Amino acid sequence: MLFNALVLLGAFLQVGVHAAAVANKRDGSPVVSLSYATFQGNSTGGVESFLGVPYAQPPVGNLRFRRPQPPLPSPGITLATKYGNACSQQNYTLPYIPNLNYSALATFVSKANASEDCLYANVFRPAGVTAKSKLPVVVWFFGGAFTIGDGSSYDGSTVIQRSVQLGEPVIYVNFNYRVNAFGWLAGKEALAGGAANLGLYDQSFLLDWVKTYVSQFGGDPNKVTAWGQSSGAISITAQLVTNPVNPPFKAAIMHSSYSSMMYKTDSQKYQAIYDHLVQYTGCSSASDTLECLRAAPYATLKDAINTTPSFLSPNGLDITWGVSIDGQLVQKSFKQYINEGCYARVPILGGQVDDEGTLFSLYSQSIITDANVKTFMGAHVFLGASETQVDSVADKYSQDPAAGSPFGTGNLSALTPEFKRVAAIQGDNTFQSGRRAAFSKWAATQNVWSFLWKRRKDLLYIGSVHGGELPEMYGVTGDYLGTDAILNFINHQDPNYPKGSTAPSLLSSVTWPKYTLDSKKMLLFSDNATEEYTTIPDTYRADAISAIIDVQTALGV
Ligand SMILES: *[C@@H]1O[C@H](CO)[C@@H](O)[C@H](O)[C@H]1NC(C)=O
Ligand SMILES: *[C@@H]1O[C@H](CO)[C@@H](O)[C@H](O)[C@H]1NC(C)=O
Ligand SMILES: *[C@@H]1O[C@H](CO)[C@@H](O)[C@H](O)[C@H]1NC(C)=O
Ligand SMILES: *[C@@H]1O[C@H](CO)[C@@H](O)[C@H](O)[C@H]1NC(C)=O
Ligand SMILES: *[C@@H]1O[C@H](CO)[C@@H](O)[C@H](O)[C@H]1NC(C)=O
Ligand SMILES: *[C@@H]1O[C@H](CO)[C@@H](O)[C@H](O)[C@H]1NC(C)=O
Repeated sequence: MLFNALVLLGAFLQVGVHAAAVANKRDGSPVVSLSYATFQGNSTGGVESFLGVPYAQPPVGNLRFRRPQPPLPSPGITLATKYGNACSQQNYTLPYIPNLNYSALATFVSKANASEDCLYANVFRPAGVTAKSKLPVVVWFFGGAFTIGDGSSYDGSTVIQRSVQLGEPVIYVNFNYRVNAFGWLAGKEALAGGAANLGLYDQSFLLDWVKTYVSQFGGDPNKVTAWGQSSGAISITAQLVTNPVNPPFKAAIMHSSYSSMMYKTDSQKYQAIYDHLVQYTGCSSASDTLECLRAAPYATLKDAINTTPSFLSPNGLDITWGVSIDGQLVQKSFKQYINEGCYARVPILGGQVDDEGTLFSLYSQSIITDANVKTFMGAHVFLGASETQVDSVADKYSQDPAAGSPFGTGNLSALTPEFKRVAAIQGDNTFQSGRRAAFSKWAATQNVWSFLWKRRKDLLYIGSVHGGELPEMYGVTGDYLGTDAILNFINHQDPNYPKGSTAPSLLSSVTWPKYTLDSKKMLLFSDNATEEYTTIPDTYRADAISAIIDVQTALGV
């Protein structure tokens, strides 16, 4: 009986496949066959897209808190015209602040539902590309503090259209990796159970998938560039330092990367979070708490996660989830790896926004005195630092709001008397210091270019905010200078307008010099026409940032 039913089902599927294949030929939808499934995408505006392509098995049931597994074969033709689910997101809210421009913070919004079943990739390519095209490939790593974010928030269509206009066609891939506890669980039990840094394993798995399959989509697996922002860019740094000899890509573009403070997987900070999840889900008395968490109802676990500090909280950039030092895949902090020269020698394009810390300081409104600032720093900026260490940095940041972030805005945007100072310290500690330290190493060993984003100083309190450069890079702003630089870099490992090109591009009148040890130049994106597309030396707040680097080095983070 069962046997007969299976035979019948098989016959039915074959009819289905045949019918769909015939339909394809008629409607011109693109189809790509991989070893485990065949996907039918969509074609519109000169761009073909394959959305919601599974690159691993759904990490559900017994696969929760486990490393990704190869996708199961799927017979027939799978429609790939809709984004796959985003990974389970942690909730957060922005504080209510009069005159804060909320729409400027909502440019990239998910178009998908969230679920544990979420390991999907999206591929965009120019229409007419075939498996013989061998185009350069770019893989986007989304940001979101390892807490939120997904691929569907980033439509690759404009990047593809622009690449065709420039005569530099590329394949664009983005994907979901697990976020918050699902991807970054830590604590000694997670470490022992092999559940640490699962997000990094998802990312490596996807990069392997690209290597194996991108040629079927028309890409060249030997010409892959990794591109990411914030936690996505920090994840790319993880690839650079853990694959110093054979990195899974040929070049990297990183916005707002270079992290921050890294702690051991079984550190007190992470153990407290793990213990909270265990307690909230009623797993405290289980003999194997990780197994108990694995079996917990999704809704309960999600509630538990939602009661930990979210992406934006009074803890600021002392975020709840992230890459931890597990002693296996990640053996030390990224700063230590880089200082020791342990990193891949690939060309790098990396930049920063001017006001990295403002967004993450909006919940710091109870910090109103110098003493409050120092207490906050001891608890959330330099965990475990002495008072002297905290003071050595705090005293380098003036209480005068005109000196704080958003920089260059005089006394405007002083949400509290200490807001701009806290924003400056947080931005420099988590982002600027790490980039400056890394670039001073990388510039000696490979080609690197850097930028500083100083546009949108009109945005009250947030200024040139974290993530604010992305509309320029994704072609939303409409001048395409940023997009063109990205596309040139993907094609030629150099952001400059290519010699011999005749394509109209604003970039053709801009010279973007390499960042070298002798001349640490960053290209400026600015509202101020006099300095727009000129360069500045990477020496801003030199004393303060080197004081930060000294404390970070002493703390070993
Ligand atoms: C293909 O894209 C077009 C344009 O966005 C849309 O109207 C159409 O519904 C899509 N087709 C499918 C099958 O999703
Ligand atoms: C998130 O959800 C939790 C639990 O449902 C709730 O207690 C909390 O207030 C929410 N937090 C935010 C930032 O929305
Ligand atoms: C807020 O930002 C959006 C997006 O950048 C912009 O279009 C809008 O004009 C801004 N609103 C105000 C009141 O400045
Ligand atoms: C989200 O889920 C709802 C309810 O199941 C469904 O109607 C909707 O189409 C889904 N949206 C997307 C973008 O998949
Ligand atoms: C900003 O305010 C401080 C006092 O909080 C004052 O000393 C300083 O002169 C002001 N600066 C500007 C540019 O107005
Ligand atoms: C614009 O930039 C130039 C060059 O850096 C500088 O001298 C000038 O003061 C700036 N103007 C404003 C209004 O900030």
